[in-house]
Amino acid sequence: MKCKQIVIPEFGEPEVLALQDVKIPTPNEGEVLVKVAFASVNPIDVKTRAGLGWAAAENKDNLPWVPGYDISGHVIENGQKATRFAIKDKVAGFIGFPLRGGAYSQYVCVPESELTPVPNSVTLEAAAALPLAGQTAAQAINKAEVKEGDRVLILAGAGGVGHIAVQIALAAKAEVYTTCSEANLDYLATLGAHAINYQFSPASERLSDVDVLIDLVGGDVALDALKCLSDGARVITIPTMSAPLVCDKAQLLGFSAEGMLVDPSAKQLETLLYMVSVGLLKVEIQKIFALDDVVDAHRQIETGRTRGKVLLDMQC
Ligand SMILES: NC(=O)c1ccc[n+]([C@@H]2O[C@H](COP(=O)([O-])OP(=O)(O)OC[C@H]3O[C@@H](n4cnc5c(N)ncnc54)[C@H](OP(=O)(O)O)[C@@H]3O)[C@@H](O)[C@H]2O)c1
Repeated sequence: MKCKQIVIPEFGEPEVLALQDVKIPTPNEGEVLVKVAFASVNPIDVKTRAGLGWAAAENKDNLPWVPGYDISGHVIENGQKATRFAIKDKVAGFIGFPLRGGAYSQYVCVPESELTPVPNSVTLEAAAALPLAGQTAAQAINKAEVKEGDRVLILAGAGGVGHIAVQIALAAKAEVYTTCSEANLDYLATLGAHAINYQFSPASERLSDVDVLIDLVGGDVALDALKCLSDGARVITIPTMSAPLVCDKAQLLGFSAEGMLVDPSAKQLETLLYMVSVGLLKVEIQKIFALDDVVDAHRQIETGRTRGKVLLDMQC
């Protein structure tokens, strides 16, 4: 039996993405075969397709390569010694990070340790949106040791990582400030954050005495936000390309500052899915594209203006 997958045959514009028919794979020992319902699209997929960043450098001799790290779907076959899941179980995972990828596939074999059961009350859409972005948000908030009463500034609170980071910081009882365009002010205020319109004036003209900066934008925007910080503030800067610049400047100013690379954890995904199941976390999905429309999905992420997440429907 055949299935479809999306590959990067060469680096370039979104149009290089190609659909190919392949044989449905057979799980090896310790793996399960997942029928993928939804895959999410992350900025790293888009940058890698364009030949930018470390994931592209690592995979340049490995093309054609199937991108994507976030899946939700159903277990349909267990390999030998794979015992965690029953056939038809609903699962999600942050798979193959950083080199194997493979989420943009209708069927994919995955080590069972990379998967997490999805509670009945959580949709497969929300489950696919969470792994990479949700864990980046959770790990950034943990690394910054956000605690009750901290004044936390999150740059780009409306994005895939940002909207989860805002909610986790609020759940920790921090006072949360976040930057966004005018179009997202109401959305972020509804989540409970103080939303600052960066199109009107930079954050540094509107805010001071910030204890924690979670930077999801990088570059000059992050450098400006350093002016909002109080003595002893902690900075976590997420975009890898500008992390050395932002960390150097922050440390020069006397703040503690670190970059970060998200580290997949099936256990942490379980916690995030639990938070969704009890209503502590709301996953925002801007649009679900059919698998055939993956070029448009990549173009949407390239706008830099996505609210929440973009998904691929892998079965239509
Ligand atoms: N190091 C890691 O492990 C790691 C992991 C995940 C992500 N990342 C990186 O982190 C960054 C964020 O990822 P993401 O998935 O959240 O991206 P995303 O979903 O594509 O972010 C889009 C959001 O960015 C906002 N935005 C754009 N320019 C802004 C600005 N100048 N100020 C404030 N908000 C702005 C937009 O809001 P408006 O429309 O309101 O402008 C939009 O909602 C990306 O660079 C990504 O590559 C790194």
